Amino acid sequence: MANGKDALMPTLQWMGREEDLEAAARAEYRLLLEEERFSYGDPGTGNLIVQGDNLEALEALLPFYAGKVKCIYIDPPYNTSGEFKRYDDNKEHTRWLSMMYLRLETLKQFLREDGALFIQLDDNEQAYIKVICDEIFGRNNFVAHILWHKKRGKDNASRYFSIMHDHIICYAKRAQSLYINRIVLDENTRSVYKNPDNDKRGVYRLQGLCTRKQCCFEFEYTMHDGKKFSRRLWLLSHDTMKRLEAENRLVVKGDILYRKLFLKESARSIPETMWIGLSNNADARDELKALFGNDTLCDTPKPEYLLKRIIEVSTAPGDYVLDSFLGSGTTAAVAHKMGRRYIGVEIGEQAKTLCAARLKRVIDGEQGGISQAVGWTGGGGFRFFTLGGDVVDNKQRLKRDIAFEHRAAPLYAAETKTPLNRRVCREHDAQ
Ligand SMILES: C[S@@+](CC[C@H](N)C(=O)[O-])C[C@H]1O[C@@H](n2cnc3c(N)ncnc32)[C@H](O)[C@@H]1O
Repeated sequence: MANGKDALMPTLQWMGREEDLEAAARAEYRLLLEEERFSYGDPGTGNLIVQGDNLEALEALLPFYAGKVKCIYIDPPYNTSGEFKRYDDNKEHTRWLSMMYLRLETLKQFLREDGALFIQLDDNEQAYIKVICDEIFGRNNFVAHILWHKKRGKDNASRYFSIMHDHIICYAKRAQSLYINRIVLDENTRSVYKNPDNDKRGVYRLQGLCTRKQCCFEFEYTMHDGKKFSRRLWLLSHDTMKRLEAENRLVVKGDILYRKLFLKESARSIPETMWIGLSNNADARDELKALFGNDTLCDTPKPEYLLKRIIEVSTAPGDYVLDSFLGSGTTAAVAHKMGRRYIGVEIGEQAKTLCAARLKRVIDGEQGGISQAVGWTGGGGFRFFTLGGDVVDNKQRLKRDIAFEHRAAPLYAAETKTPLNRRVCREHDAQ
């Protein structure tokens, strides 16, 4: 039960599950090699882009970053037909499940105790991933299932329904430790706030104080002018209502009592699980077109405003954000503009042609996507890595010509369950 797993808990089984998971557990520890010609700007920011298979890259990064990441966002291939270029649908499906299981298990180890993982998927696999995440993270660490409105128009050619949303499933490393930040109210919500009685505290909206919820307070309430509200359930305690009345914050309309909620006191609100009007897939293609003059470079880029929301609700400046299916580099670009540190992994050549190229433009101060909303003017840097050879020879002995940090890191992390401090390694190598 320590890792949230329970022997009686239902788990997902598929053909080849155990063999696939065992084979991957034997994967070699690979080296991270910097390719300086693709790094850019200040090398000391802590930002990394790695080109390579993400399981191998994550294994190489884990000894240094275990327990350090505040937010993981992944947008893996959705497993729509043909992605693995195989004809047997069932095999394709099971192969995808093994692929994701292994990566999720590894990703979890990167999270801080107050960290969260967000996975974006469509209808094909979201239900399966939910069951796998319940197994890996524990059902009690499920946080939310968000629906993101992804289409600009309708798909009239769809056979049954025009599918308008993606799923974003969120799990915490430890639900009790996770805090979801409140978000700035959008224009639509702000426009609801009015000031019909010229209250000098500014615009406000009314919140009804009567409730049907059993968890609340039950009493009769008498206003100071003698108006009585019969015994009923209230959202607030009797003392709080008396205080609000003394501050002229209660408003009576017929038999209903409201409180004034002033905009300047509630400029942030709890995020909801329906994300409508937060950019869409077509906006993401427009963003890439504005950057590279071409919107066909990545099949399924996500828009910067979507990543801004995820990073906004789950992190603070300086926190680490990790995306191991980086695609066109949206997560890294947004994290960079928002002053977060990031680790991005992408297997394809787009690690160089899109991710590194995009981040170079970000560092030079590009003004697309969220730039103006966050006041971005440029600066910072990142280092670019690829995966090198194994750290062991064919007799499973540690190779001697490998820097101390790479020989020590996996052993240190396995023994202590804490990441190795790079400074200690550099001091050792200098001796
Ligand atoms: C749906 S796209 C991500 C799009 C991204 N969110 C964006 O905004 O551009 C998925 C990406 O994952 C990459 N990918 C697939 N398998 C991978 C693996 N095993 N290791 C690393 N990257 C992988 C693909 O090359 C593809 O670029």
